[in-house]
Amino acid sequence: MEPSDKCLFKYKGSYFVPDLTTPETIDSLEDFEIRDSDVFLVTFPKSGTIWIQYILSLIYHEGHRNGTEDTDLMDRILWLEYNIRNRDYISSPSPRLFATHLPYYLMPKELRKGRAKIIYVARNPKDALVSRYHFSKMSVKTEKIADFDVFMERFLAGEVVGNFWLDHVEGWTAQRDNLNILFILYEEMKKDLRSSVLKICNFLGKRLTEEELDDIVDKASFGKMSVDRRANYTTVSPEILDFTKGRFLRKGTVGDWKNMMTVAQSERFDSIFKERMEKLPFKFFWDIKEF
Ligand code: A3P
Repeated sequence: MEPSDKCLFKYKGSYFVPDLTTPETIDSLEDFEIRDSDVFLVTFPKSGTIWIQYILSLIYHEGHRNGTEDTDLMDRILWLEYNIRNRDYISSPSPRLFATHLPYYLMPKELRKGRAKIIYVARNPKDALVSRYHFSKMSVKTEKIADFDVFMERFLAGEVVGNFWLDHVEGWTAQRDNLNILFILYEEMKKDLRSSVLKICNFLGKRLTEEELDDIVDKASFGKMSVDRRANYTTVSPEILDFTKGRFLRKGTVGDWKNMMTVAQSERFDSIFKERMEKLPFKFFWDIKEF
């Protein structure tokens, strides 16, 4: 483990949140036993992970949909590398639903051989950066950098959880023919949530009625999730998230980067991202007006 003056620790080429995981945990994942029924949600941080976590919970748990169960997201979806609720993953019933920010190369060996189902959600990296910047103010255990310019440089250097955005996305898209994987864009969900939920259900082989589908789309709206404590992470310990400093569901839109980045910052960002982004197998939206 490399020490770091930047709050995060670096292990095997990746950055992690201290206290919430250890190098031993990361090592143990290599041989983590995978079930074919497992579902893994994979994201670069701030790409809408919580949104899909919530949708998965609604798809799989009728008790969540009809309100008879009061389980919050942290107990519904298991964080692969951050087991902060000390859950026993081995004895958890199938289908297990996992979330992770891990790069492809650190995932369990059996998953890399093609087992389980994977949903990869990507968001345009400027919005992910700006979302992360705001999130860092409330995230107790990660970096605190008030100056956005400095924060952006760290993001561009890949010195953040998830590492360098392009490496993360390319690492996963490069394996798309070897994995049982569905790619979804955050922006696509913003544009047409119902189609996205349907796409997810079809991928998972879940048949829901039209009413159930409508109910999920309604419950997974930004407005409803923001005020649902099972969905907005307010049940997470204040030692991890300080809700006096911000909200996890902050703005939930496309193009908020324009309110933060200067033209010069945006151009610098493009000079590093543009060429490689053009080779990705999907087209991102940078502004809600493009819809
Ligand atoms: P903003 O900070 O831009 O608002 P993650 O879970 O990967 O950390 O992603 C968090 C981001 O997803 C936040 O972005 C949050 O508002 C957004 N998000 C979460 N639920 C959403 C929803 N129902 N609709 C739109 N955006 C949502």
